[in-house]
Amino acid sequence: MPLFDVYPLYNVTPVSGKGIHVYDDKDTQYLDLYGGHAVMSIGHAHPNYVKAITSQVNALGFYSNAVQNPLQVQLANKLEALSGCKDYELFLCSSGAEANENALKLASFKTNKKRVVAFSNGFHGRTSAAVAATDNKNIIAPINAQQAVTILPLNDVQGVKTELEKGDVCAVIVEFIQGVGGLDQATASFFEQVNVLCKVNNTMFIADEVQSGYGRSGKFFAFQHYNVTPDVISIAKGMGNGFPIGGVLIHPSIESKYGMLGTTFGGNHLACAAGLAVLNTIEEEDLMTNVNNISNYFISVVKTLPQIKQIKGRGLMLGLEFDFEVGDLRKDLIYNHHIFTGGAMNKKVLRILPPLNIEKQHIDQFFEALKIALNK
Ligand SMILES: Cc1ncc(COP(=O)(O)O)c(C=O)c1O
Repeated sequence: MPLFDVYPLYNVTPVSGKGIHVYDDKDTQYLDLYGGHAVMSIGHAHPNYVKAITSQVNALGFYSNAVQNPLQVQLANKLEALSGCKDYELFLCSSGAEANENALKLASFKTNKKRVVAFSNGFHGRTSAAVAATDNKNIIAPINAQQAVTILPLNDVQGVKTELEKGDVCAVIVEFIQGVGGLDQATASFFEQVNVLCKVNNTMFIADEVQSGYGRSGKFFAFQHYNVTPDVISIAKGMGNGFPIGGVLIHPSIESKYGMLGTTFGGNHLACAAGLAVLNTIEEEDLMTNVNNISNYFISVVKTLPQIKQIKGRGLMLGLEFDFEVGDLRKDLIYNHHIFTGGAMNKKVLRILPPLNIEKQHIDQFFEALKIALNK
């Protein structure tokens, strides 16, 4: 049976990984500055991770959400401690789109309203409401178009005010650093004013931290760079270091009711073991300090390269903007220098999303290769 052909593929077949590297079927080593799309937080085959998953699958891989699962409670407590999000409650699911879908449903349940405000060039996933809030017409099927969504430009405070004052908006959903779009960020003043506008208009403020969360921005959550209090925070990607797990942190002003949300796989034993191993490793190895140190180093080197027009993003969620489209550069880096990087909707941006335990030597290796590639 042929595979449904939706992904343009690079001709590389990784078969193993260790730390910041993956190895293909010919045992060629690749430096992973893409992190499998911002997923690898603690690196490939981290011993804590391998041990936790192996022992959990030997004990109990899965049971349903109809029974006690102390691992979910441990995960929630550890997440509260590391994120500093003291007042929230946790619902677990299995992907970023599902996290945002649940976030939007919660906002609608809570406010009894149904229109969503989202922003240009944003990406929130491919399920029904999440994809409707995603600013890319090519991925919105007619069945999704029934959702009431208004897309505004980032930084348009007046636009947000006008829409929220109409009284029918259940949620404003935003990425504090746009991932797929190309690392753009709104101003602090915009985020903080939107936060207030949500509070006074009975609209839920949803922080989509699927990509920017879990330390990638240099703080546990990217919204923590600002003075805002989201009502719902959606998480996935780095949460499981490759194991499919997502979740929503929910402010207690949104009351839970039996049956309000649910999923078969969300919060299963194996997913929680993976999630706990990630959080324990972020803490034990002080990875957020590493993110900030390596980010500063990376940015200092970028400043010496005149071909890079702009550096965008924060922490280890960075974008290098050139004055040309980077598709061929990415191919050159993969095939000739064995380095994975990411692309974006903004075709002139090269995305850098490495595991959070990357070291300076890897950054040096990248810039040596980049200089050769740029000076061809
Ligand atoms: C900000 C953001 N939200 C949501 C998603 C969707 O996550 P998933 O692919 O796990 O459904 C992504 C994926 O790239 C993302 O970057």
